Amino acid sequence: MPFAAGDMGFRRQRHRRDFFVFFVFKNDFKTGGGNNVMKYTRDESIAFFKEHNSEDMYFRHALAVEAAMKHLARHYGEDEELWARAGLLHDIDWEITQSVEAGHPVKGGEMLRERGYEEEIIRAELAHGWEFSGVKPESRMERALYTIDELTGFVAAVALVRPSRSLSDLEVKSVKKKWKDKAFARGVDRGVVERGAKLMEESLEWLIEQTIEALRPVEREIGLGMPE
Ligand SMILES: [Fe+2]
Ligand SMILES: [Fe+2]
Repeated sequence: MPFAAGDMGFRRQRHRRDFFVFFVFKNDFKTGGGNNVMKYTRDESIAFFKEHNSEDMYFRHALAVEAAMKHLARHYGEDEELWARAGLLHDIDWEITQSVEAGHPVKGGEMLRERGYEEEIIRAELAHGWEFSGVKPESRMERALYTIDELTGFVAAVALVRPSRSLSDLEVKSVKKKWKDKAFARGVDRGVVERGAKLMEESLEWLIEQTIEALRPVEREIGLGMPE
Protein backbone atom coordinates (compact mmCIF):
# COMPACT_ATOMS: atom_id res chain seq x y z
CA MET A 1 0.00 0.00 0.00
CA PRO A 2 2.51 2.66 -1.12
CA PHE A 3 0.01 5.43 -1.15
CA ALA A 4 -1.06 4.85 2.43
CA ALA A 5 2.53 4.42 3.58
CA GLY A 6 3.51 7.64 1.83
CA ASP A 7 0.58 9.40 3.37
CA MET A 8 1.58 8.23 6.82
CA GLY A 9 5.10 9.41 6.22
CA PHE A 10 3.89 12.77 5.12
CA ARG A 11 1.73 13.10 8.22
CA ARG A 12 4.58 12.11 10.49
CA GLN A 13 6.83 14.60 8.79
CA ARG A 14 4.24 17.32 9.07
CA HIS A 15 3.79 16.57 12.70
CA ARG A 16 7.53 16.80 13.24
CA ARG A 17 7.63 20.07 11.32
CA ASP A 18 4.81 21.56 13.38
CA PHE A 19 6.57 20.46 16.52
CA PHE A 20 9.79 22.01 15.26
CA VAL A 21 7.98 25.29 14.53
CA PHE A 22 6.52 25.28 18.01
CA PHE A 23 9.86 24.44 19.58
CA VAL A 24 11.75 27.17 17.74
CA PHE A 25 9.15 29.85 18.33
CA LYS A 26 7.78 28.77 21.68
CA ASN A 27 9.21 31.81 23.42
CA ASP A 28 7.49 34.04 20.89
CA PHE A 29 4.22 32.27 21.59
CA LYS A 30 4.78 32.91 25.28
CA THR A 31 5.64 36.57 25.13
CA GLY A 32 4.93 38.09 21.71
CA GLY A 33 1.53 39.73 21.47
CA GLY A 34 0.41 37.00 23.73
CA ASN A 35 -2.55 36.36 25.85
CA ASN A 36 -0.83 34.59 28.70
CA VAL A 37 -3.07 33.41 31.44
CA MET A 38 -2.26 35.75 34.28
CA LYS A 39 -2.03 34.54 37.86
CA TYR A 40 -4.47 37.23 38.93
CA THR A 41 -7.31 38.87 37.02
CA ARG A 42 -7.60 42.61 36.64
CA ASP A 43 -10.39 42.73 39.24
CA GLU A 44 -8.32 40.73 41.73
CA SER A 45 -5.40 43.06 41.15
CA ILE A 46 -7.58 46.14 41.65
CA ALA A 47 -8.83 44.62 44.91
CA PHE A 48 -5.21 43.99 45.96
CA PHE A 49 -4.32 47.59 45.12
CA LYS A 50 -7.26 48.94 47.10
CA GLU A 51 -6.45 46.73 50.08
CA HIS A 52 -3.31 48.80 50.47
CA ASN A 53 -4.26 52.19 48.98
CA SER A 54 -7.38 54.04 50.07
CA GLU A 55 -6.69 57.40 48.37
CA ASP A 56 -8.58 57.89 45.11
CA MET A 57 -5.69 59.89 43.73
CA TYR A 58 -3.40 56.86 43.91
CA PHE A 59 -5.93 54.66 42.16
CA ARG A 60 -6.35 57.19 39.37
CA HIS A 61 -2.58 57.19 38.84
CA ALA A 62 -2.59 53.38 38.76
CA LEU A 63 -5.33 53.40 36.10
CA ALA A 64 -3.48 55.97 34.00
CA VAL A 65 -0.24 53.98 34.02
CA GLU A 66 -2.19 50.78 33.33
CA ALA A 67 -3.80 52.37 30.24
CA ALA A 68 -0.49 53.72 28.96
CA MET A 69 1.26 50.38 29.40
CA LYS A 70 -1.52 48.48 27.67
CA HIS A 71 -1.43 50.93 24.77
CA LEU A 72 2.33 50.56 24.37
CA ALA A 73 2.15 46.76 24.61
CA ARG A 74 -0.35 46.78 21.75
CA HIS A 75 1.95 48.99 19.70
CA TYR A 76 4.94 46.70 20.23
CA GLY A 77 2.93 43.47 19.83
CA GLU A 78 3.71 42.48 23.42
CA ASP A 79 1.54 40.89 26.10
CA GLU A 80 -1.09 43.54 26.84
CA GLU A 81 -2.39 41.93 30.03
CA LEU A 82 1.05 41.51 31.52
CA TRP A 83 2.01 45.10 30.74
CA ALA A 84 -1.32 46.41 32.01
CA ARG A 85 -0.93 44.54 35.30
CA ALA A 86 2.61 45.87 35.77
CA GLY A 87 1.25 49.39 35.25
CA LEU A 88 -1.68 48.93 37.60
CA LEU A 89 0.44 47.58 40.45
CA HIS A 90 3.67 49.53 40.11
CA ASP A 91 2.94 51.77 43.13
CA ILE A 92 1.30 49.10 45.28
CA ASP A 93 3.32 50.16 48.34
CA TRP A 94 2.86 53.91 47.93
CA GLU A 95 0.33 54.58 50.69
CA ILE A 96 2.49 52.55 53.08
CA THR A 97 5.88 53.97 52.14
CA GLN A 98 5.09 57.45 50.70
CA SER A 99 8.75 57.94 49.88
CA VAL A 100 11.85 56.24 48.59
CA GLU A 101 13.47 56.79 51.98
CA ALA A 102 10.75 54.66 53.53
CA GLY A 103 11.33 51.88 51.03
CA HIS A 104 9.48 52.63 47.79
CA PRO A 105 9.67 50.68 45.45
CA VAL A 106 11.52 47.86 47.25
CA LYS A 107 8.64 47.28 49.66
CA GLY A 108 6.26 46.99 46.67
CA GLY A 109 8.44 44.26 45.19
CA GLU A 110 8.18 42.32 48.45
CA MET A 111 4.39 42.73 48.52
CA LEU A 112 4.01 41.48 44.96
CA ARG A 113 6.32 38.52 45.62
CA GLU A 114 4.44 37.59 48.77
CA ARG A 115 1.16 37.62 46.84
CA GLY A 116 2.69 35.40 44.15
CA TYR A 117 2.74 37.80 41.19
CA GLU A 118 4.71 37.03 38.05
CA GLU A 119 8.45 37.64 38.23
CA GLU A 120 8.23 40.00 35.23
CA ILE A 121 5.78 42.21 37.13
CA ILE A 122 7.98 42.23 40.24
CA ARG A 123 11.07 43.17 38.21
CA ALA A 124 9.20 45.93 36.36
CA GLU A 125 7.92 47.33 39.66
CA LEU A 126 11.42 47.40 41.11
CA ALA A 127 12.92 48.85 37.94
CA HIS A 128 10.49 51.79 37.79
CA GLY A 129 12.44 53.08 40.77
CA TRP A 130 15.75 51.85 39.43
CA GLU A 131 17.71 54.62 41.18
CA PHE A 132 16.49 53.26 44.53
CA SER A 133 16.05 49.53 43.97
CA GLY A 134 19.22 48.99 41.97
CA VAL A 135 17.22 46.96 39.41
CA LYS A 136 17.98 48.47 36.02
CA PRO A 137 15.15 48.55 33.46
CA GLU A 138 16.24 46.04 30.85
CA SER A 139 13.25 44.46 29.16
CA ARG A 140 11.03 46.51 26.88
CA MET A 141 8.27 46.38 29.49
CA GLU A 142 10.58 47.59 32.27
CA ARG A 143 11.83 50.47 30.17
CA ALA A 144 8.32 51.48 29.18
CA LEU A 145 7.10 51.52 32.77
CA TYR A 146 10.11 53.52 33.93
CA THR A 147 9.43 56.13 31.24
CA ILE A 148 5.67 56.33 31.22
CA ASP A 149 5.13 56.57 34.99
CA GLU A 150 6.03 60.24 35.28
CA LEU A 151 4.86 61.11 31.78
CA THR A 152 1.23 60.10 32.45
CA GLY A 153 1.20 62.48 35.42
CA PHE A 154 2.66 65.29 33.37
CA VAL A 155 0.22 64.89 30.46
CA ALA A 156 -2.70 64.79 32.93
CA ALA A 157 -1.39 67.95 34.59
CA VAL A 158 -1.30 69.77 31.23
CA ALA A 159 -4.89 68.72 30.51
CA LEU A 160 -6.03 69.89 33.94
CA VAL A 161 -5.02 73.50 33.38
CA ARG A 162 -7.00 73.73 30.14
CA PRO A 163 -10.55 75.11 30.14
CA SER A 164 -11.91 71.74 28.94
CA ARG A 165 -9.77 69.85 31.48
CA SER A 166 -9.74 67.26 28.73
CA LEU A 167 -7.34 65.28 26.59
CA SER A 168 -9.71 65.23 23.65
CA ASP A 169 -8.33 68.47 22.21
CA LEU A 170 -4.85 68.32 23.69
CA GLU A 171 -1.99 68.46 21.19
CA VAL A 172 1.58 67.25 21.52
CA LYS A 173 2.93 70.76 20.99
CA SER A 174 1.04 72.09 24.03
CA VAL A 175 2.60 69.38 26.19
CA LYS A 176 6.06 70.11 24.75
CA LYS A 177 5.65 73.78 25.58
CA LYS A 178 4.85 72.98 29.21
CA TRP A 179 7.72 70.49 29.25
CA LYS A 180 10.16 73.36 28.70
CA ASP A 181 8.45 75.51 31.33
CA LYS A 182 10.37 74.36 34.39
CA ALA A 183 7.98 76.14 36.75
CA PHE A 184 5.10 73.98 35.54
CA ALA A 185 4.51 70.66 37.38
CA ARG A 186 7.84 70.98 39.12
CA GLY A 187 7.28 67.68 40.89
CA VAL A 188 7.65 65.76 37.63
CA ASP A 189 11.21 64.62 37.14
CA ARG A 190 11.73 65.34 33.45
CA GLY A 191 15.16 63.71 33.61
CA VAL A 192 13.61 60.31 34.34
CA VAL A 193 11.34 60.54 31.29
CA GLU A 194 14.18 61.71 29.06
CA ARG A 195 16.47 58.89 30.26
CA GLY A 196 13.62 56.45 29.72
CA ALA A 197 12.97 57.71 26.20
CA LYS A 198 16.64 57.06 25.40
CA LEU A 199 16.44 53.53 26.81
CA MET A 200 13.31 52.92 24.75
CA GLU A 201 14.93 54.49 21.68
CA GLU A 202 11.84 56.61 21.16
CA SER A 203 11.44 60.35 20.89
CA LEU A 204 9.81 62.39 23.62
CA GLU A 205 7.27 63.68 21.07
CA TRP A 206 6.23 60.16 20.15
CA LEU A 207 5.90 59.15 23.77
CA ILE A 208 3.76 62.20 24.53
CA GLU A 209 1.54 61.38 21.56
CA GLN A 210 1.14 57.77 22.71
CA THR A 211 0.35 58.86 26.25
CA ILE A 212 -2.36 61.28 25.09
CA GLU A 213 -3.89 58.56 22.90
CA ALA A 214 -3.72 55.98 25.67
CA LEU A 215 -5.32 58.20 28.29
CA ARG A 216 -8.16 59.62 26.16
CA PRO A 217 -10.48 56.61 26.57
CA VAL A 218 -10.02 56.58 30.37
CA GLU A 219 -9.97 60.31 31.03
CA ARG A 220 -13.13 60.26 33.19
CA GLU A 221 -11.77 57.44 35.36
CA ILE A 222 -8.55 59.34 35.95
CA GLY A 223 -10.31 62.57 36.91
CA LEU A 224 -10.10 64.51 33.63
CA GLY A 225 -12.63 65.79 31.13
CA MET A 226 -14.97 67.15 33.76
CA PRO A 227 -15.45 70.84 34.38
CA GLU A 228 -14.48 71.93 37.90
FE1 LIG B 1 6.57 54.78 42.03
FE1 LIG C 1 3.88 55.84 39.75
